Amino acid sequence: MKTIITKTNFNDISSEVLIVGVPEHPENVQGWDEFVATFSSRIPEWVKTGDIKTGFKEIVKMPTLNEQPFKRVLFIGLGATKALTEDKLRQVFAAVGKELATNKAESATIWTAPFTNGKLACEDVVFAASESIGLGMYRYEGYKTSSNEKDHSFNSIQFLSNADEDELKAAFEVGAVHAYAVNEARTLVNMPPNILTATKMAEYATELAGKYDFEIEVLGKKEMEELGMGAILAVNKGSVEEPRLIVLKYAATDTWEDVVGLVGKGVTYDTGGYSLKTKDGMVGMKGDMGGAAAVLGAMTIIGELRPSKNVIAVIASTDNMISGEAFKPDDVITSLSGKTIEVLNTDAEGRLVLADAVTYAKQSGANYLIDVATLTGGVIVALGMDKTGALTNDEAFFEEFMQASLETGEFVWRLPLTDNDKKRLRKSDVADLNNSPGRDGHMIFGGGFVGEFAGNTPWIHLDIAGTSDAPAAHDLGPKGATGVMVRTLATFIERFADVELEDN
Ligand code: BES
Ligand code: MN
Ligand code: ZN
Repeated sequence: MKTIITKTNFNDISSEVLIVGVPEHPENVQGWDEFVATFSSRIPEWVKTGDIKTGFKEIVKMPTLNEQPFKRVLFIGLGATKALTEDKLRQVFAAVGKELATNKAESATIWTAPFTNGKLACEDVVFAASESIGLGMYRYEGYKTSSNEKDHSFNSIQFLSNADEDELKAAFEVGAVHAYAVNEARTLVNMPPNILTATKMAEYATELAGKYDFEIEVLGKKEMEELGMGAILAVNKGSVEEPRLIVLKYAATDTWEDVVGLVGKGVTYDTGGYSLKTKDGMVGMKGDMGGAAAVLGAMTIIGELRPSKNVIAVIASTDNMISGEAFKPDDVITSLSGKTIEVLNTDAEGRLVLADAVTYAKQSGANYLIDVATLTGGVIVALGMDKTGALTNDEAFFEEFMQASLETGEFVWRLPLTDNDKKRLRKSDVADLNNSPGRDGHMIFGGGFVGEFAGNTPWIHLDIAGTSDAPAAHDLGPKGATGVMVRTLATFIERFADVELEDN
């Protein structure tokens, strides 16, 4: 995508669509009089009569007559200037992105001044615009043979701003990288499970490693057997598809120290196994690799922006199927860590694959762990479809993570994990742990089980079962995969590069 930065000069507009933010009091925007003088002295009157709206996110499109170089003006209401935040800018520009996609526009010009206030500078506006327009324009193309949706060819965006050109360009690039990575993750989640197998996911990761110079390891069934990864192997037993453990290493320093491990659940399809899901409950389980997609998306941003923090990504990928070979309730399995597990429910498979992945991340030098997974229906019951549930064993580490989540606007809420919960996880007549202590508060048991393998390593668990797939179009994108946590994980790594926690 081409970006053009131009000093604020309304005679220099070179796009199809001009985007103008309209706060409650547009007359206070620097340059407003000039804007009115250039385009139409009737603009203030139209604001007064409501033909141009100032309510937050209200859009009015106006075709232009032939004396203007552009075809349309898109006025978007901003409400009170003071109340504008980064998150509100994201909502505004995602709505603009959707509008541009609907109109199949090829280019747009954004005048930055109306979107700024005491806290938000032109750079913030450019960053938000680039990130959110990219997110708002996302469409999954799928496999329709008679698609009438032509490739929209939006290819150029111009900013009118008096701020420093290099800084604006950098802000634009970071925003564009964020949108690209989230959209890649969305596509992985939207892909059908007969196409996106564990093997395919490993191929995708291998390409990523080549592009960004990551070290990569891909373990297949044989390697897992040699290492004793009994947990992921148990989940894979009923499948004709081979499992994959995908490991990417981003080395920021000469020594492999102070490493953050990002661990993703990559279940490419979850039938529930012998604890079979209902036919309605199974539909949509192609998205059970949303955690893996989030980790791969974050690695894309890390590969592009190259923060000064060592990162290891570990993705455990398999489907959860049934056959004469499949694992079953009552089985006892031995995980890579050596801990034994009594299987009470084969549909609690995510925590099993994550157990081995977390152990492998630790064995590979991770000093901090964040696992991301579409782990439980329980998180949806607890928090709804718009909040990611979290657990942690380290308050300070979690606080740092929350800062990143506040910055990206991806809502995260922590649930407790008590000694009593741990006691119930460890209750089994035949093994060290059981994989399903009960339905009451089972988000906590799902994540808490993974925590048993993190041990004393500072750890955060993110349950994205509710947030990974949107049931309907939302602010930042269409129905379907959201790419949730891609931006927060990457932003966290960037921020964490400059922070040192005590005791670590
Ligand atoms: N993949 C599911 C969780 C899920 C549910 C993701 C809905 C997305 C939407 C997970 O493997 C699962 O089946 N969890 C069970 C756990 C139970 C058996 C303890 C659940 O939440 O019902
Ligand atoms: Mn399951
Ligand atoms: Zn699952």
